Amino acid sequence: MMFAARSTLRTTLSKRAFSSTAANASKVAVLGAAGGIGQPLSLLLKLNKNVTDLSLYDLKGTPGVAADISHVDTNSVVKGYTPDQGIENALKGAEIVVIPAGVPRKPGMTRDDLFNTNASIVRDLAKSVADNCPKAMVCVISNPVNSTVPIVAEVFKSKGVYDPKRLFGVTTLDVLRASRFISEVQGTDPTQEPVTVVGGHSGVTIVPLLSQSNHPGISGETRDALVNRIQFGGDEVVRAKDGTGSATLSMAQAGARFAGSLLKALKGESVVEPSFVDSPLFKSEGIEFFSSKVTLGPSGAEKIHELGQLNDYEQKLIEACKTDLVKNIKKGKDFVAQNP
Ligand code: NAD
Ligand code: LMR
Repeated sequence: MMFAARSTLRTTLSKRAFSSTAANASKVAVLGAAGGIGQPLSLLLKLNKNVTDLSLYDLKGTPGVAADISHVDTNSVVKGYTPDQGIENALKGAEIVVIPAGVPRKPGMTRDDLFNTNASIVRDLAKSVADNCPKAMVCVISNPVNSTVPIVAEVFKSKGVYDPKRLFGVTTLDVLRASRFISEVQGTDPTQEPVTVVGGHSGVTIVPLLSQSNHPGISGETRDALVNRIQFGGDEVVRAKDGTGSATLSMAQAGARFAGSLLKALKGESVVEPSFVDSPLFKSEGIEFFSSKVTLGPSGAEKIHELGQLNDYEQKLIEACKTDLVKNIKKGKDFVAQNP
């Protein structure tokens, strides 16, 4: 009798501790959770106290990843899903969906070379998100981001659930790299080196605005080398990994930071993060998506910031960026039109 009472008390307490109530629930779903990014990203999300439910979906491997991560001593509940358990169950009730599903680059490839494989993966996952949690904040990591974000938008439009404020291409890794690389040049603390990075997420579409950093005077070969390293930082990792993939660990940190900012925003805090979003900045020139600083709030992208004052050098970078971006965005939109 005594044992039964204690056991009931224990059950009640543990239910209080480990299950979320509707009012404070923050379910985050990771699609592609067993991959190189998915695993460390899921671990970092498990460490985030604002996450109450972590839902890990992949074609295979997620029951193991979920069992493993679920032993970490934070309150959130972790569940793993494969197609057998149903993507709809993974997505039901999700407030944030992070998508790192898809193939990574090998040396010699551009991100655009991933399009043929990743476009259909992202399109199909977007359909599931639209059907099961259409109001979720969707964070797209899968490359080429400049095209996969428009793919998600077109799928959502076709299903009548597109909310431009809730779709984000994750460009945070470019921001991390810019802070780190400028700190290496200056011999400073990278955590104190904010750099605004705008445009898109590949090669010349990545535009760091060094004139707005702590070091507006950087010029000449130092500036050229720094800008080039920020634009092509991904290639550095692809070459070093020598055919086994691209950035995973730094990307996990970047994805966890962006999702973490969205979680804070959902709780009412106003947070500014650069992101590739449906943007008015260059729409008149046919560029529907552009990355710039975005103020995040409970309804998503609440304010898209202007680029601010640019110097001639940055103006030229923006022109080169726009030339590529317009093609990348069109490619994503055309894909969904031709392959609905
Ligand atoms: P990976 O191959 O290690 O992992 C990808 C995972 O996606 C795999 O586990 C795979 O099973 C899963 N997957 C494939 N199709 C799926 C589907 N239909 N449903 C669910 N899961 C599916 O690759 P990775 O290194 O984790 O990279 C993933 C993607 O992220 C790549 O496209 C890469 O280019 C991109 N990436 C983007 C950034 C960025 O800054 N946005 C940075 C790094 C990598
Ligand atoms: C990166 O910037 O590291 C990613 O986009 C992966 C890649 O292909 O470079």
